[in-house]
Amino acid sequence: MIVLGIETSCDETAASVVRDGREVVSSVVASQIEVHQEYGGVVPEIASRAHERAMLPVLDRAIADAGIGLGDLDAIAIGHRPGLIGSILVGMSAAKALSWSLGVPLIGVDHVHAHLAAGFLGVETAFEPALGVVISGGHTTIYRMDSLTDLTRLGSTIDDAIGEAFDKAAAILGLPYPGGPEIDRLSREAGADDRAVELPVSRLGKDSLDLSYSGLKTALLYAAKGKPTPPRIPGKPALVPEPVPELTPDRVRDLAASFQRAAVRALVLKVERALDRHDDLKMMVVGGGVSANSLVRSELARIARERGMVLVIPEMKHCVDNAAMIASLGSVLFAQGHRDGLDLVAVPTTAC
Ligand code: KG4
Ligand code: ZN
Repeated sequence: MIVLGIETSCDETAASVVRDGREVVSSVVASQIEVHQEYGGVVPEIASRAHERAMLPVLDRAIADAGIGLGDLDAIAIGHRPGLIGSILVGMSAAKALSWSLGVPLIGVDHVHAHLAAGFLGVETAFEPALGVVISGGHTTIYRMDSLTDLTRLGSTIDDAIGEAFDKAAAILGLPYPGGPEIDRLSREAGADDRAVELPVSRLGKDSLDLSYSGLKTALLYAAKGKPTPPRIPGKPALVPEPVPELTPDRVRDLAASFQRAAVRALVLKVERALDRHDDLKMMVVGGGVSANSLVRSELARIARERGMVLVIPEMKHCVDNAAMIASLGSVLFAQGHRDGLDLVAVPTTAC
């Protein structure tokens, strides 16, 4: 079974050929990071236009690298939700045109769920009911996974996604976009003190499996730049906020490490709480850009080891957005008999 995956939901134009759901025969990712860097984040209209320019060359490369012809494809999988509508529509148009002209099925794939298929690429590990953890720039969700396509959401962020928080924290510290990898790198530098400042770890009550990252972001802002000056109350002495240390390179490094420690701690707390409640699960499946983070990887590996669980986490190149994960989940859906028509629509939100 040879499936072509197409991914254009955010700022990566990607196409990949995957055989039998697991073997990556080719994977091409054209990143737009440089285009958006000067704005400090993804600009939707610019993203759509960049996808238009990159789509056909990326498709050609994916087919050429795979050493196959278009006639060898059994199905076309497209990440049709969630994401930027204008961007999804570019990949969707290409996918529909191929499906129609080749006469092969079109399969719509949920991008967030596809992140959980990425860890199975290139490995033979058999799926078992699992705790699914998606940690990306747009989503932070914990699932019970009874199969790769049977997901029950247990909790998710009520405000910022964890990757978004990393990126905003990096912007506060004056680091380039996307900031997640920069914060990770600084935190690993010799001398980095992850206890330099005590930042809040959100818990949201003792029963919640939801997460929150906006308070942590504000706390970092205050630690880095100081609190805003409180308004003067007539007849009372002016309140002067406490001064904060200068943002030297060492201070930036320590704030980055302190932020990373608090952000990962909040995730770890909820993962452990979810596993306490679902103690029949013997596998943990992780995906999304933040699964590339070194502290996330070591902490989740520790939890899996302590609980005797199998940890399925993508290779670094499959953590961030790619089309191999779309083709992989598309293959699972294809094998289950799932088919979509040319009336498949782009949807801004995830299915669950
Ligand atoms: O999954 P992804 O490519 O896009 C979405 O579907 O959102 O994730 C991108 C996110 C960005 O926020 C980026 O800063 C973050 O993943 N990221 C990291 C690391 N590598 C990528 N965050 C922390 N540490 C990293 N090493
Ligand atoms: Zn993603």
